[in-house]
Amino acid sequence: MDDPVESTRSASSWKKLERLLDEIEDGNEAKPDYIELKGKADLGRLEEKDREALIQRLHGSVLRGFRANEVRVPGKKARLAYWRSIARNGFHDFAEDEWMKCHDSPFVENYDYVAPYLDGGGLDVLDPYMVYSSVLGTWEYSVEDFVHTDLLSDVTTVVEPLAGTAEFCYAGHFIYPDFQYVMFDLDEDAKSHVEAKSWLPQTQREFIVGDALVEDTWKSVRKASKGTSLAYIGKQSHNFFGAKDLMKVLEWGTRHCDHLMLEISEPYLLDEEPTIDELTRPEQKAAGFHVALDDVEDKPANPLTNAMDFYLVVWDKLDRRNLFSYCGWIGWQAPTLTALGRLLDLEVRYYHSDDTEFMPVDVGTDTSDCRENNTFMLFSRK
Ligand SMILES: C[S@@+](CC[C@H](N)C(=O)[O-])C[C@H]1O[C@@H](n2cnc3c(N)ncnc32)[C@H](O)[C@@H]1O
Repeated sequence: MDDPVESTRSASSWKKLERLLDEIEDGNEAKPDYIELKGKADLGRLEEKDREALIQRLHGSVLRGFRANEVRVPGKKARLAYWRSIARNGFHDFAEDEWMKCHDSPFVENYDYVAPYLDGGGLDVLDPYMVYSSVLGTWEYSVEDFVHTDLLSDVTTVVEPLAGTAEFCYAGHFIYPDFQYVMFDLDEDAKSHVEAKSWLPQTQREFIVGDALVEDTWKSVRKASKGTSLAYIGKQSHNFFGAKDLMKVLEWGTRHCDHLMLEISEPYLLDEEPTIDELTRPEQKAAGFHVALDDVEDKPANPLTNAMDFYLVVWDKLDRRNLFSYCGWIGWQAPTLTALGRLLDLEVRYYHSDDTEFMPVDVGTDTSDCRENNTFMLFSRK
């Protein structure tokens, strides 16, 4: 299938932007995916109150977001204030160089997750899921990319096992509000977090508190599904499982859903020494804390099993806190996953991001970016 084409309108002065927003608000112009602010339309030069008012208008006038790449705000404090004024008015910059919202979302989300920390209370008041989302959330790919393929064009249910913050379902439901969304996680807090988000009222959804290693959880997923289903485990969360458990997930996932997709990383060699993988974003540094994936000192990664132990940590001058622990995390790589899929007699495909189609794993790898980038493997019954 053809890729969806994104539309961008640009404005190089406040006058031109004003005119464009008036036309969109009056219904004379369609909302573009993006508005690009250039030249004299410099958000960094506006007073905070005017900037906020403008961001609020932009929110109602774009489908996906806006670009303001020429803005340079001198000074750490002023830059943080600039970031917060946009983030609390419905746009985040977690994915790319642009400020984004969920597709055509009418809800003004507050992405300013550093606010409670700045109000005092130390690291304890940081919401672990919000911090996780900002540094590791699934923002680049969405339901749209996958159901846009020929293979998955009949999907009507999206399942997110090990959902955590369930960004995949949540972002997807704005584009496909008529689909069914089924999410599950062991953690009751994940359910509360996800259910507290603003969802479109017409969307059918269910969040199950359940264990991926119990077949009944998958049976409940099937019960809550409607038509062809795609289950998606993002951010290599299948790495929580050892080989036998992963086989169960592949088996039940493809028995009770029509397709099971796993996000996988590019091939890599394990580090010999424990490392700290700094993820700190500029607003975190400016607020006074750091975020990283930190290996457990006395447990180096095992090159024979690809098992590793690490934490998602935050720290500041006074304290340190483990937000999530990844103990016995196994860095499953594509060849092993292919072998497991074949042992279960499953079709094994991968997402070819240039051709935007799923391909058998024996086809097209020379023209795909799967050597350099994360990709997605798809398991289905024959
Ligand atoms: C890294 S988060 C997932 C984030 C999200 N899906 C994403 O792609 O950004 C992993 C989640 O898996 C959940 N989890 C771990 N083991 C599980 C299991 N056996 N069954 C269900 N959920 C599990 C944890 O509670 C956690 O919320």
